[in-house]
Amino acid sequence: MRDPVENPFSPGSDIVPEVWAGRTAQLSDWRDVVRPRLLKGLPERGRTILGEPGLGKSSLVRRIAQQAERSGDWVTPQLRVPLGSDPLKLVAAAVLALAAQAGLPAARERAIEGLLDRVQTVAASGLSLTLQQKEGPEPHVALTELLVEVGRAAIARDVVAMLHIDEVQNITDERALSQLLIALGDAITHEIRVAAPGGAQVRRGLPIAVYLTGLPDFEDRAGALKGATFARRFRTTVLAPIDDDDLAEALQEFVLPGWEVPGPDGGRTRIRMEPDAASAIIEICRGEPFLFQLAGQHAWNADRSPVITREQALRGWRGAQREAVAHVERILARLPERERAFVEAMAAVPPQERKLTRIAAEMGYAKVTDAGPTSQRLDTVRGIIDRGRLYSFRHRAVEAYLTSDWPDVS
Ligand SMILES: Nc1ncnc2c1ncn2[C@@H]1O[C@H](COP(=O)(O)OP(=O)(O)O)[C@@H](O)[C@H]1O
Ligand SMILES: [Mg+2]
Repeated sequence: MRDPVENPFSPGSDIVPEVWAGRTAQLSDWRDVVRPRLLKGLPERGRTILGEPGLGKSSLVRRIAQQAERSGDWVTPQLRVPLGSDPLKLVAAAVLALAAQAGLPAARERAIEGLLDRVQTVAASGLSLTLQQKEGPEPHVALTELLVEVGRAAIARDVVAMLHIDEVQNITDERALSQLLIALGDAITHEIRVAAPGGAQVRRGLPIAVYLTGLPDFEDRAGALKGATFARRFRTTVLAPIDDDDLAEALQEFVLPGWEVPGPDGGRTRIRMEPDAASAIIEICRGEPFLFQLAGQHAWNADRSPVITREQALRGWRGAQREAVAHVERILARLPERERAFVEAMAAVPPQERKLTRIAAEMGYAKVTDAGPTSQRLDTVRGIIDRGRLYSFRHRAVEAYLTSDWPDVS
C-alpha cells in the first residue's frame, strides 16, 4: 500500500536511505582502491569527506561501512563527536570493540592484556590522562598500539578494520585533535614484517581504514595543526551535489518496474511514478540529497493512489517548502560574514558577467584582491562555488534560493 508507513524516502539524517543515488566515485574508491590495497598491505591514506550539511557525508560512509560489513570486515558504528567532547574516549571505546571483534581479549598474552587495560583507561579518562601524568605512554600511543594489534589480527583473517568518526568539526580542543590524528595516522602508516611465501621477510602496512566526516570547517582546524602530517596521511574530498542523471537513475525504479510494497491479502504490489513526477522531484531538489529525500517523501505522502503523479509531487513539495527554505538558510547562516556577502553579491550579478572583478565591485571592495581569499575558500574548502573563467555555483540549492523564486515551483 502507498501509505506513510511504507514510504521509502527518509529525510532524517544518519540512516542509509533506501532510495540511494550516485556517489559512485566514492563507493568505487572504497571497493576498488582502499579495500583491495589495504588487504594487499599497500599504503593507503585515510579519507576525509567534508561538505555542507545535508550533502550526504554520514550516509555515504555508513553505506561504505555496510558494504564492508557484508564483506566480513570489522567496522565501528558511526562515532559522532559531540561538540567540545573528548574524542579520545569515544575512539578508545570503539577500538576496544574492534579488539573484541578481533578476539584479542581471549589472547592470554600479558602484553595484550596490559594494552587493553591501558586503552580502557583512555576510554574512561581520555585526554585528561596526559594531565594526570599517569604511568605509561601518552593516551594516543596506547590507542595506536592497540590498533596495530587489531590490524595484525585483521591480516590473519584477511579483513579490513574500518573506523568512521563523524562530525569531526566538533573537536574543538587542539590537543585532543592532534592526539587523535596522530594516533590514527600512526596506525595507518605503521608497517610490520611478515614472512612472504618462500620465507623472505617483507614489510607491509595494516588493513586499517579510517574515514573522517564533517563540516568543511574541519579542514582549517586540522590543516592548521603545528607540524601537521594530516595532509600526507588523509585525503580530503569535498562533496558536491548529486548529478541529475544519478537522481534520475535512483527514481527509475519507481518509474519502471515500480517500488515494491506490501499489497492486499499479504501479497506484494508496486507503487509507480510518472516520468514527469520524477523530473519534477529532480528539478525541485537541485542535487541536494536531503531535499531529494524531502521531495520524494512528500510526493509519496501526497496521495494513496498507486501512481505518483507530477501534480502530487508539486503539491507535496508545497508542504515541504518551509523545511527546504530552513535547510538552505541554515547553510547560509553558518557562513562567516564575508563568505555570505560574497555569495549574495555573486547571486546579484548576472551569470554571464560573474567575474571576480565584477563581484568584488558589487561587494563594494576597492581592490579585486580583497575578495580573493574569500572566493578561494568558498570554492576549495566549502565547495559552494566554482571559480572558472566565470564564477558559478556548485551548490545549486543555494544558487536557486538566492537567484530565483525557488522553492516556489508552481
Ligand atoms: N547518495 C544519496 N542518495 C540519496 N539520498 C541521500 C544520499 N546521501 C544522503 N542522502 C540523504 O540526504 C540526507 C542527508 O544525508 P546525511 O548523510 O545526513 O548528510 P550530512 O551528513 O552530509 O549532513 C539524508 O536524508 C540522507 O538519507
Ligand atoms: Mg552527518
